[in-house]
Amino acid sequence: MFLLHVALQGCLRAENVAYGLTADTGGHIRYLLDLVRASSTAGPVRRTVIATRGFVSELGDEYAPAPVREESGIEILRLASARPDYLPKEDLWAETESFAEGLIAWIEAQDERPDLIHAHYADAASVAAIVEDRLGIPFVFTAHSLGRVKAEVMGARAADVPHLDKRIEIEEAAIARASLVIASSRDEAEVQYAGYREYDPGRIRILPPGSDLQRFGAATACPEVEASINRFLNEPDKPVLLALARPVAKKNLCALVRAYGENAELRQRANLVIMAGNRQDLSALDGEMSGEIREILCLIDRYDLYGHVAYPKTHRPDDVAAIYAYARDRRGIFVNPALNEPFGLTLLEASAVGLPLVATDSGGPNDIIEICGNGELVDPQSTQAIAEGALRILRDSALWDRYAAAGAKAVAAYDWSRHAARYHELVQSLLARRQATGAKVDQLLICDIDNTLVGCDIGVQRFTQWRSEQDGLVFGVATGRSFHSAMSILEQRNAPRPQVMITSVGSEIYHLDSNGTTYTADPDWRDTVRRGWNREAVHRALRGLPGLVPQAALEQRAFKLSYFSDGDREITSRVRERLELAGLRCSVIHSHGRYLDILPVRASKGTAVDFVRRRYGLPENAVFVAGDSGNDIEMLRTIPQAIIVANFSDDLASLPSLKHSYVARATHARGVIEGVLHFRNKARAAWPSSVL
Ligand code: GLC
Ligand code: MG
Repeated sequence: MFLLHVALQGCLRAENVAYGLTADTGGHIRYLLDLVRASSTAGPVRRTVIATRGFVSELGDEYAPAPVREESGIEILRLASARPDYLPKEDLWAETESFAEGLIAWIEAQDERPDLIHAHYADAASVAAIVEDRLGIPFVFTAHSLGRVKAEVMGARAADVPHLDKRIEIEEAAIARASLVIASSRDEAEVQYAGYREYDPGRIRILPPGSDLQRFGAATACPEVEASINRFLNEPDKPVLLALARPVAKKNLCALVRAYGENAELRQRANLVIMAGNRQDLSALDGEMSGEIREILCLIDRYDLYGHVAYPKTHRPDDVAAIYAYARDRRGIFVNPALNEPFGLTLLEASAVGLPLVATDSGGPNDIIEICGNGELVDPQSTQAIAEGALRILRDSALWDRYAAAGAKAVAAYDWSRHAARYHELVQSLLARRQATGAKVDQLLICDIDNTLVGCDIGVQRFTQWRSEQDGLVFGVATGRSFHSAMSILEQRNAPRPQVMITSVGSEIYHLDSNGTTYTADPDWRDTVRRGWNREAVHRALRGLPGLVPQAALEQRAFKLSYFSDGDREITSRVRERLELAGLRCSVIHSHGRYLDILPVRASKGTAVDFVRRRYGLPENAVFVAGDSGNDIEMLRTIPQAIIVANFSDDLASLPSLKHSYVARATHARGVIEGVLHFRNKARAAWPSSVL
């Protein structure tokens, strides 16, 4: 493959990048160079070129327009555009046409054309779209940061950002046109993009970036760091809750001090260590930072936490590993209570050191804890939730050991060579442009994911092999997870790629595109479930109902409101009553004794499976469904050939409404295969032998 990366912004060079030289010489350049290095040293890539904008400026001669040349092992092409001088990113949109002309001329002069363009930032996507129109080369898009998110964070001040509306429009066009959009986290894929008109989750794929975690794995304590913390503490050998973040409001450090100050057991079991940036003179910090530090100091005084909290004035960047080691050696916990954490690099570092996590359930930490299984997600708005999350780990030393060991997974998961391998797989499969098979479809199998399709690795292996031998069988999943959460667990467990994904408990349906890689949401299903659904009213009606706590923001979808329940069996009827009282008709689904989902009345896994069956024009007896728990009941109840895997919960096998199901002897995916064979044999036996 020949990959052409296009990145117009900032001062790009292959080595010793002067980060911060201009406001747009930042993280995206590091990402691009790391990706290019990892991607061109291994795998199917024959050639990689980065095309950037050449400009004449005092910032450095090395950025001037130049023909393609190798710079520290990377081929870089510096193309002139209409304006010769350096331009900040807000002004680049005016250059995209002239830049694209230059790029097209360059491509046409090459012996071989690039197979794919990878556009970094939306202005590069505008260039790529022009190239695609003229030369037919498809492109993938990485946004790096999004204008809509910026607008939201800035609120009223967004009006002062030059060309922000323009930027958002260009991003809309990029999202609409790209063959594939690459995101770094579920938060980006499902929350940050969701504000865009052209948002299409099935065309986004999450590839976590690598980060340099090896050195944290080997972290050891250091005496200076110990001394700088211990001088605050009466009992310096106790476990610690460690927080490390800039003192800005969104990092929410005050909530952690409150959680600690309000909870006697927490104060008794652990010290609190807050590394909040560096300060010489508090009043010399900018307004937000000095305000936060003052608030922390006030809280320490209010709760009289002297001798229990350490808040050193300074630490060096090189000390960070030793700070984590300090906490790990005392069997402590790393706490990140941010109101939203887009990615969560510190959490990865702490994981690599071997510290269990208590992290905000808003943003990137969801992915980290899902991948590593090394901590507790908590609602950052609730000081009680923060305290309880920490106490669960502090009270249970076996749990601490398990979480501490699991953090090592971060090093392997957030690694550039792994990123590159998955990236190559994705773009190759995108380029393979499958021919429409037109193969006859005669049966449909829809499986729940958690504890049905996955949960046993050998089962998944067997299933993948078996599935590849089933001509005419369409394979799909039906899950409580969102599209990206489902995608990421399927990829992690090496499960086969489904042709149909029924997600968020049946409220969304996606079909695999003919390229065999991306998915498209089913617009007819969306229109069907939308009818009669009033999300806001449901939310209002259930507010304050005892025994219900909303799940994390990431779990709430346009057509699904999700809560944790206290496990009380009556909760479903209490919820139904409330909704009825408010005149609302909804599906209410309780599972695992702890999840409670409210969906539009037409949405459930069962109705979604039936919709898919009709779309394929199949009769009812051509459909198999398989599940293990409460949120599968609806689907198992309404489909005649229903399979319950041996490891079921929620009393599935004894429910009168599921009497028709086959309860497999095998667990997980092997139980699914067993069930399909059972029903096929039964159907065969039912035919008179003369027909066979
Ligand atoms: C998945 C979803 C959650 C839902 C549960 C049960 O865990 O993430 O939101 O409540 O399934 O359907
Ligand atoms: Mg399940």
